[in-house]
Amino acid sequence: ESGKLWGGRFVGSVDPIMEKFNSSITYDQHLWEVDVQGSKAYSRGLQKAGILTKTEMDQILQGLDKVAEEWAQGTFKLNPNDEDIHTANERRLKELIGETAGKLHTGRSRNDQVVTDLRLWMRQNCSTLSALLRELIRTMVDRAEAERDILFPGYTHLQRAQPIRWSHWILSHAVALTRDSERLLEVQKRINVLPLGSGAIAGNPLGVDRELLRAELKFGAITLNSMDATSERDFVAEFLFWASLCMTHLSRMAEDLILYGTKEFNLVQLSDAYSTGSSLMPQKKNPDSLELIRSKAGRVFGRCAGLLMTLKGLPSTYNKDLQEDKEAVFEVSNTMSAVIQVATGVISTLQIHRENMARALSPDMLATDLAYYLVRKGMPFRQAHEASGKAVFMAETKGVALNQLSLQELQTISPLFSGDVSHVWDYGHSVEQYAALGGTARSSVDWQIGQVRALLGAQ
Ligand code: ARG
Repeated sequence: ESGKLWGGRFVGSVDPIMEKFNSSITYDQHLWEVDVQGSKAYSRGLQKAGILTKTEMDQILQGLDKVAEEWAQGTFKLNPNDEDIHTANERRLKELIGETAGKLHTGRSRNDQVVTDLRLWMRQNCSTLSALLRELIRTMVDRAEAERDILFPGYTHLQRAQPIRWSHWILSHAVALTRDSERLLEVQKRINVLPLGSGAIAGNPLGVDRELLRAELKFGAITLNSMDATSERDFVAEFLFWASLCMTHLSRMAEDLILYGTKEFNLVQLSDAYSTGSSLMPQKKNPDSLELIRSKAGRVFGRCAGLLMTLKGLPSTYNKDLQEDKEAVFEVSNTMSAVIQVATGVISTLQIHRENMARALSPDMLATDLAYYLVRKGMPFRQAHEASGKAVFMAETKGVALNQLSLQELQTISPLFSGDVSHVWDYGHSVEQYAALGGTARSSVDWQIGQVRALLGAQ
């Protein structure tokens, strides 16, 4: 006997290099718990179908509990022959309860087993990630609420654009993450479908009640087609894409904070807890946490693109190529968990330099408001834009700030300018104009905070 699950038709032995190449136990052992869970449900299905007696089922269930206990206590000993977690658990079950163990796999294939395990594992893991992500969003919204009266420059093209509330910036990122949070719930729905009972390709010939399996394992639905069930990895691809998009958002936020933290901007300061120093330059405090968040995006995108390439053009149905799915899932799950927790720490401990934020505002950023001033006096916006542009040019030529032009000078550009133009030069007045929902006025920022909180509550 070769000691392999599939040894019957083999006479020659496997090259040790091939043995190692083929094996997935180094990483799929993470699935030990869900593998036992799936097997326990399946043995109940077999008993109901009359394949196992009640005594045999109880023997198997107890044996599986013992297997799980060994894993939990770290006493499970792997054999060199344990190709994957399914092989290892069944081998151990047989050592514990004898030949009855050989009945457990009746009508089951590792093809439906592995994808059941993976879905169970991902279902649990996505709940954890979802909780972490919501905690990050909550941290951001709390901060936005506490600091909503602080103004600073908003940038487009990295050029000074318009004054905005600091909270408006925080919320711009929180809102993106709220979509990620919502999206993860959608992905979870499609993960939460039971493939067990599909066999290797054709289905289950022994009358196993898949509805019972579904209820045992608390899946939301059962897969519709056994060929599709054993070989589709849409749910993995969707998860990896979810992670990629979430990383896109987090990397953009990280990049903003890296910039804002430079001495040149000097708007924020990263806490020591999330920075590191230089081994050569004593003055350095580097934003390594943010740089790593930014860079991990590359790793996650790579896993997403890699899996899609593995899936593309695969013949139906199960092919060993699919074994590659698990490392992608584990790596991306670990990465997301770490990144989200570090981001939460960074945001909750970040210092802001209020005076620098105020000082960073400059009258040229009010040129748009100057145009709106003329619009309110009845001028068509195109003309108002032109007039305000002329004022900017005049100030630049004279070497003064935009708000230093005298009323007489402004009136050479348009007779509509009068004494009340002085209100335009007030930054607080500026942001309060943007009161339409979604804008940077205090009322709209409060509305955003309420909306994000409501979305978090509803999810
Ligand atoms: N370790 C395998 C995987 O991860 C389990 C399924 C193997 N099935 C098979 N027919 N060889 O996909």
